[in-house]
Amino acid sequence: MNELQFNRHRRLRTSKNMRAIVRETFLRAEDFIYPIFVVEGTHVKNEINSMPGVFQISLDLLEAEMNEVASLGIKSVILFGVPDEHHKDECGTGAYSHNGIVQEATRTVKKSHPDIIVVADTCLCEYTSHGHCGVVENGKVLNDESLELLAKTAVSQAEAGADIIAPSNMMDGFVAAIRAGLDEAGYTDIPIMSYAVKYSSAYYGPFRDAANSAPQFGDRKTYQMDPANRLEAIREAESDVEEGADFLIVKPSLSYLDIMRDVKNNFNLPVVAYNVSGEYSMIKAAAINGWIDERSIVMETLTSMKRAGADLIITYFAKDAARWIKEEQ
Ligand code: PBG
Ligand code: ZN
Repeated sequence: MNELQFNRHRRLRTSKNMRAIVRETFLRAEDFIYPIFVVEGTHVKNEINSMPGVFQISLDLLEAEMNEVASLGIKSVILFGVPDEHHKDECGTGAYSHNGIVQEATRTVKKSHPDIIVVADTCLCEYTSHGHCGVVENGKVLNDESLELLAKTAVSQAEAGADIIAPSNMMDGFVAAIRAGLDEAGYTDIPIMSYAVKYSSAYYGPFRDAANSAPQFGDRKTYQMDPANRLEAIREAESDVEEGADFLIVKPSLSYLDIMRDVKNNFNLPVVAYNVSGEYSMIKAAAINGWIDERSIVMETLTSMKRAGADLIITYFAKDAARWIKEEQ
C-alpha cells in the first residue's frame, strides 16, 4: 500500500464545521425574488391547482403577505397581474392602464413596505384576449407594433412605484424601447431586469394556470427561444446588454444551468435565474407523495443555480428557503 500516490479529498469533509469552512456557494434570503399573483376582488386566496402552496391573492391580502415576506428577510418581490377575463382585450389595455392590477398592487406594496424592491413583470399575455405577449394581426405576433405598448406598460409601472422593470415578452428591441420610454418619462434611475434568455418551455405550464395567460392559438415558438440552442443565448444577451439591460434573466433554470454559466462568464451584469413554475410543481408533486425530501431537494436545487452563476433567483420556494436558512443559522 505504501507506494500508492493519491490525494485525500475526504480530509476536507471530516466534520460539519470542516465542510462549512470550505463551502464555496451560499444561499441567502437576499438572493430570492418572490413571485406574487394578484387578482381583482376582495378576500380572494385561490390556491393554484398545479402549484400547491402558491396562491392568487387579492389586494386586501397583500399587506399581510408582505409582512411575512419581509419578516423572513426577503428584499424583493415580482408581481404578476391576473385580470378578470372581461378586462382582457386585443391590445392588452389592462397592462398599461393607470389602475391596472399590477399598478394597484405596486402602490399597495410600496405603501406598507416602501423599502421592499418591487419588480414589475412587463408583458401583455396576461392582458390580451388571445393570450400572446404582443400585438396579433392575421395570426402573427407583430414585433415593432408591440414595442410601443411595452414601453407604455413599463412607464405606467414605474409611475405606480415599481423599482425594477422586468420585460418578459421576447420581442426584438424591447430593452431599447423600454429604456427610451422610461428615460423620456424621467425614470432614468429605474433599472431593467431583462428576460434576456427565455426559452420556449413546457415548464411554464403551471404558471399559465396561475396567471391565466395561455395562448389561445398556436404557441410562443416564434418569439421564445428553441431549447436546443446555446450560441443564440449569447446573441440574445448581447443585444440586451447593448440596449441597456441592468440584469440578465435566464429562464427556465434547471434544464439551462449550462446557459446560466455561459451568460455569467460572458457578461459583467448580475445574472438572475428564474426557477419556473414547472420546476416548482415537479418537486412539490414528488414531495407530497413522500418520494423525496422537499427541504433537502429545494436547497440543493437553489444552490445549483447559484453555483451555475446566478446572483439572484426568482423562486416560488423563496419563503420556505428563507425560513430554512434562518433555522440553520
Ligand atoms: C409571461 C411570463 C411567463 C412566465 C413569466 N412571465 C410565461 C410564458 O412565457 O408563457 C413563466 C413563469 C413560470 O413558469 O414560473 N411572459
Ligand atoms: Zn408574456
